[in-house]
Amino acid sequence: MPKSKTVVITGAGGFIGGHLAAHFLSAGHKVVAADIKPLDEWYQVHRKAQNHAGPVKGDCRDFKVCRAICRGADEVYQLAADMGGMGFIENNKALCMLSVLTNTHMILAAQEAGVDRFFYASSACVYNADKQKNPNITALKEADAYPGLPEDGYGWEKLFSERMCRHFREDFGLNTRVARFHNVYGPEGTWEGGREKAPAAICRKVIAAVVSGKHEIEIWGDGTQTRSFMYIDDCVKGINLITHSGILEPINLGSSELVSINQLVDIAEEIGGVKLQRRYKLDAPKGVAGRNSDNTKIQQYLNWEPSTTLRAGMEKTYRWIFDEFTAKYTAKTAHKSSISTFTKGSHPIPGDGFNPESKFMDTWTQGIPAGYGGAGGGSGKKRAGKAVGAKRGK
Ligand code: NAD
Ligand code: GDD
Repeated sequence: MPKSKTVVITGAGGFIGGHLAAHFLSAGHKVVAADIKPLDEWYQVHRKAQNHAGPVKGDCRDFKVCRAICRGADEVYQLAADMGGMGFIENNKALCMLSVLTNTHMILAAQEAGVDRFFYASSACVYNADKQKNPNITALKEADAYPGLPEDGYGWEKLFSERMCRHFREDFGLNTRVARFHNVYGPEGTWEGGREKAPAAICRKVIAAVVSGKHEIEIWGDGTQTRSFMYIDDCVKGINLITHSGILEPINLGSSELVSINQLVDIAEEIGGVKLQRRYKLDAPKGVAGRNSDNTKIQQYLNWEPSTTLRAGMEKTYRWIFDEFTAKYTAKTAHKSSISTFTKGSHPIPGDGFNPESKFMDTWTQGIPAGYGGAGGGSGKKRAGKAVGAKRGK
């Protein structure tokens, strides 16, 4: 990337956006940063950037804001999204889907401004759920996103927006680039409050145990679920490489070091110098049973893949969360942060991260509900009986 370009980063008040802004500023570029959060809630504030903060100046659902920030830009990094770990995305599917507004308006504004590059942050949540049913999963290759059966809500929105990038490139000539991030972690990320992902949540819970002296930990699921986790420095490097490459298709950006959640806890315990009594919360949000990144393509294209070991990345993350934690909690109050919460949106769905009604909406797998058209019927003539969704007054 030549010197002194103007780059727009949305979601810059969040985890990855904050690190990306630091990277581009240190490389001598002009950074236009936007986030719906007020500036005092940004994870990192870079005074050298032009910061558009808060619901009036930084909400990228608003096309006027998108136009204002894209004017004169060379590159756009579309990271803004209403998202989080499993505790958030399983409970807030409608909110997750509304990120389609930020993506649509940002890509339109970028197109109008004639930018050189438009980078879109997609997710491993686009992958077909049927290919992630086993903890000993075969790593996911890019083609495994189709036929589409992504994570409900959040994954569908990501898959749709990926597709939009493709068609803006093909039809309008916008240089779009798309990376599918696999669970990113590191300092300056969300570590409590309901949106945190497993690496930060586990660090926090181990730290709570260390600080409180109460040597036990609650783990969501039975701990056998597997994931790969990518350290933030690898993520920033990958975004840069992919954006400035000729890679036109969505590509995995993730570590291929597969671990179980139990192994993740082992690592955090080792860093914290404790052994904890494990309690498994089986009804908590779990997501898929296994997920890993197949890095064949990124290796072929770039001769590179994320390589920070989980042990090394967790060490830095743990130390950072430890400082944040002890600035906020004491031995007496630490227990307040030992449980992970589920963040529910404005219309909470009953149940722990799972809407049973949704399950019965899929008549192609469940069959036509009782009371309609006879056994396995479907004539649609009989209207007796309780309609699907009736409970919620539809
Ligand atoms: P984050 O939540 O820390 O940052 C996202 C930021 O977007 C937040 O600061 C939020 O306030 C902002 N935002 C939300 N709605 C907005 C709006 N309407 N206008 C402007 N800003 C808005 O999340 P992150 O981990 O930094 O993720 C960045 C991107 O990467 C997201 O698109 C996310 O879906 C994607 N991603 C992240 C991961 C991960 O593990 N962190 C994995 C896959 C994909
Ligand atoms: N968040 C969280 N908090 N997860 C926990 C906890 C806890 O306290 N304890 C155990 N887990 C388990 C979850 O039940 C899940 O099975 C696993 O750890 C990973 O959870 P997350 O880190 O929250 O999410 P994910 O890996 O399923 O999905 C994340 O990564 C995607 C990209 O790979 C999410 O952040 C998605 O938004 C993201 O797109």
